[in-house]
Amino acid sequence: MKNIFSVEGKVAIVTGGSRGIGEMIAEGLVENGVRVYISARKADACEATAARLSKLGECISVPADLSTPDGIAKLVAEVSSKEEQLDILVNNAGATWGAPLDDFPSDAFDKVMNINVKAVFELTTKCLPLLRASASPADPARVIITSSVEGIGISAQSNYPYGASKAGVIHLSKQIAKTLAPEQITVNCIAPGPFESKMMAFALDSEEKRSAVANSVPMKRIGQPEDVAGAVIYLSSKAGAYVTGQALAIDGGGLLGPG
Ligand SMILES: NC(=O)c1ccc[n+]([C@@H]2O[C@H](COP(=O)([O-])OP(=O)(O)OC[C@H]3O[C@@H](n4cnc5c(N)ncnc54)[C@H](OP(=O)(O)O)[C@@H]3O)[C@@H](O)[C@H]2O)c1
Repeated sequence: MKNIFSVEGKVAIVTGGSRGIGEMIAEGLVENGVRVYISARKADACEATAARLSKLGECISVPADLSTPDGIAKLVAEVSSKEEQLDILVNNAGATWGAPLDDFPSDAFDKVMNINVKAVFELTTKCLPLLRASASPADPARVIITSSVEGIGISAQSNYPYGASKAGVIHLSKQIAKTLAPEQITVNCIAPGPFESKMMAFALDSEEKRSAVANSVPMKRIGQPEDVAGAVIYLSSKAGAYVTGQALAIDGGGLLGPG
C-alpha cells in the first residue's frame, strides 16, 4: 500500500495548462515527478508557465489551437516525436460564453461546443496509439477530462452551451470508458466547483463577489490548487487504477445545495 498515490516517472499532457485550473493540475503533476506537456493558444503564456514549472521539474510548452485539426495534429506530433508512450492525458482546455437566451450568438454556441466537447474527442482519439503503448492491467493509461459542476446541476448563469458541453463530456467519457476498459485505459471526468481563473474572474474579481461565491459553497471557500491537483493525481496513480467512467465533483459540497 505504500506509495499508491505515486505518479513519479509518468508522462502527461495537460491542455489549457498555461493558466487557471490547467496550470494547477500541471504544477501538481510536475512537482510529483511527471514530465508534463502543456498546451494553449497563446504561445507566450504557455512558454512562461512551462518556464516557471520547469524550476520544479519537467514541463514542456507546445502552443496549439486545439479547436482545429491542425492544432491537435501539432500537439500529438510534438509529443510523439519525444515520447514512446503517454500515461496521462488531461483534456482541460475549455471556454465559456454568456448571453441572453433570446439572442445567444450561434457562432459562440459552436465555439464552446467545439473546444469543450469535440476537441476532447479528437485529441483523445488521436492520442490512442500513445496511450495504448502505456496501458497495462497493473498500471492503466489514464484520460481525465475537466467537466464542471455545471455539467451535473443547473446554474443560474446565462451560459447555455457551457452546461450542455460539460454534461456532454461526462456522457462522452462514459461511452469512451466503456470502449477502452478492456484495453486498460481509464476515462474519468473531474467536475470542479469555483476555482480562481480567468474564466471565473467575472465572479471573483472583488472581495465582495469572492466572499459571496465562497459563502455559497457548503464548505465556505473556493477551490485551491491542491484540491484539483490532488484529484488528478489520485485518478492517475495506482490508487485510481480501478476507477473508470466516473465524474468526480471537486466542489466543497456545492452539488449538495447552497451552503
Ligand atoms: N475555474 C472554474 O471555476 C471552473 C469550474 C469548473 C470547470 N472549469 C473548467 O476548467 C477548465 C479550465 O478553465 P479555467 O477556469 O482554468 O479557465 P481559463 O483560465 O480561461 O483557462 C483556459 C485554458 O484553456 C486554454 N484554451 C482555451 N481555448 C483553447 C484552444 N482553442 N486551444 C488550446 N487551448 C485553449 C487557455 O489558453 P489560451 O487562451 O491561450 O488558449 C487556458 O490555458 C475548463 O474546461 C473549464 O470549463 C473551470
